[in-house]
Amino acid sequence: MEKLVSSWFNNKTLPQSYIFPPETRPGNHIIPRSNTIPVIDLGNASAHDRTLVVQQILKASQEFGFFQVINHGVSEDLMNDTMNVFKEFFELPAEDKADLYSEEFNRPCKLYTSSANYDGDKVHLWRDSLRHPCHPLEECIKIWPQKPTRYREIVAAYSIEAKKLGSRILDLISEGLGLDLGYFGDKLSEAVVISVNHYPPCPDPSLTLGIAKHCDPSLLTILLQGDVFGLQVLNDGKWVGVEPLHNAFVVNIGHQLEVVSNNRLKGAEHRVVTNSTVARTTAAIFLNPSEDCIVEPAKSLIGADEPPVYRAFKFKEFLYNYVTMGGNSEKSLEPFKLHG
Ligand code: OGA
Ligand code: NI
Repeated sequence: MEKLVSSWFNNKTLPQSYIFPPETRPGNHIIPRSNTIPVIDLGNASAHDRTLVVQQILKASQEFGFFQVINHGVSEDLMNDTMNVFKEFFELPAEDKADLYSEEFNRPCKLYTSSANYDGDKVHLWRDSLRHPCHPLEECIKIWPQKPTRYREIVAAYSIEAKKLGSRILDLISEGLGLDLGYFGDKLSEAVVISVNHYPPCPDPSLTLGIAKHCDPSLLTILLQGDVFGLQVLNDGKWVGVEPLHNAFVVNIGHQLEVVSNNRLKGAEHRVVTNSTVARTTAAIFLNPSEDCIVEPAKSLIGADEPPVYRAFKFKEFLYNYVTMGGNSEKSLEPFKLHG
C-alpha cells in the first residue's frame, strides 16, 4: 500500500527507480496535440449516414488504430458521475483502500501500482491502478470496492453502457469488414474488464511514463480519458497526442482485432506521459474474448491472395504470452504468426 505513488509522491524528487532509459523517456520535446486522430460522430449512424460512419471507422482503424467518438449515446451525467466516483476512490483515506491493495497477479479485483509485476519491473510506472472484471455483473459486483458508497451503482451502470457502445462499434466494424452481423457479439467480446488509472502530478515528466509503450491485449478498448492530456499514439514513427475532448470516448483497436481482421486493422502502440501540475484519472474498458474463446482470422477475410497471417489460438494462450513478454508489441503476437 505504501508503494502506491499517491501515498508518497508529495514534494519528493523522482526516485531513480522511475527514471526510464534515455531511448524510451519522453524528454522535453513538445508533442503535437493535433487533430490527427479522427473524431467520428456516431449520432449520424442511421440510414444512409451509417455507410459513411462505417467507412470513417474502418479508415481510422486501418490508418491509426485509434479514433474518438462523439454523440455516442452515453449520457453526460453518467460519464461525469463515473469520472467523479473514480477520482473519489483514489482520494479515499488509505485505510479504506488497504483491503483492495494486492501484488498478487491473479487477484481479480485489485488496487496496485506501476505494473502487475512491481517486483519484476525494470523501471516503475508513475501510476496507480484499480482493476476488476465487469461481467457477469451480478457475480463480480460483489468483489468491487464498497467505498465510495455509490461506486457499485455508478460503475455497474457505466460498464453496461460502455459495453453497449463497444458492441455497437464492433457491429459497425464487422459491417465494414464484410463479416456477418454479430460476428463479435458473443464470446469474442464477452469478458469486460475495467482498468482505472490514476497518475498523480509528477516531479519530472521528462524522465518517466505513466504507462510505457504498449498495444492493448483486448479486442477493443473504450477509454474515458477525462479532461487532462497524457495519452500519445505512435503514428508513422512519431508520437501524436490525443486531445481530451469533452464528452468523447477514445476507442482503440486491440491485438485480437488485428488477428480477426487478418491485419486489415491496426492495433496502434500508445503510451501515457505525466504532468507536473494536476492528477489525471482515466478509465479503460477492455472488451476481451473469454479465456477459452478461439481467436483466429475470420474465414471470409482469407483466401488465395490473402493467406492467414495467424493461426488459431485460445485467448488465454495469448494472455500468457503477452504477460511473459512484458507487453512488448512485436513479441506479443509472434508465436501465433504463420510464417509462410
Ligand atoms: C491503458 C491505456 C491510456 C490512458 O490503460 O491501456 O493505454 O490515457 N490507458 O490512461
Ligand atoms: Ni492501452
